[in-house]
Amino acid sequence: MKSFVALLAVVAVVAADVSHLVRNPEADAQILKQVADVLPDQYNYSYETSNGIAAQESGALKNVGSDAEAIAVQGANSYTAPNGERIAVTYVADENGYQPQGAHLPVPPAPQEIPEYIVRALEYIRTHPPKEEPIRRV
Ligand SMILES: *[C@@H]1O[C@H](CO)[C@@H](O)[C@H](O)[C@H]1NC(C)=O
Repeated sequence: MKSFVALLAVVAVVAADVSHLVRNPEADAQILKQVADVLPDQYNYSYETSNGIAAQESGALKNVGSDAEAIAVQGANSYTAPNGERIAVTYVADENGYQPQGAHLPVPPAPQEIPEYIVRALEYIRTHPPKEEPIRRV
């Protein structure tokens, strides 16, 4: 029985997830460069780390004081993925939303032509709007 308990203890130690005890080599990464300049109506920053992470961004308010006031941002960042692939994104973010670009990002399929029977069905619905039904009180 004692040896069975000892065996169980050995199995438990061997099966334990000790990945949190293994030091990630990226834990020693250093910041090589870091710059930031922030004004009330515009800013920019950039940084670079020793493990290959780089980012830069700048932004500015536009249409200040109008209903269309917005912040227009542009930037880029890059890093090396665990599989060794270099991931790079450039982006614009403004009143039209966040618009990233990068070779690794999925590309939507080209727009398809709407099948003829769908076009006919939509035309039928457009030219035959549903009749309004009277509201029945119970
Ligand atoms: C942004 O960076 C440039 C240098 O690239 C600098 O001339 C400019 O004054 C910076 N600051 C702001 C707030 O845009």
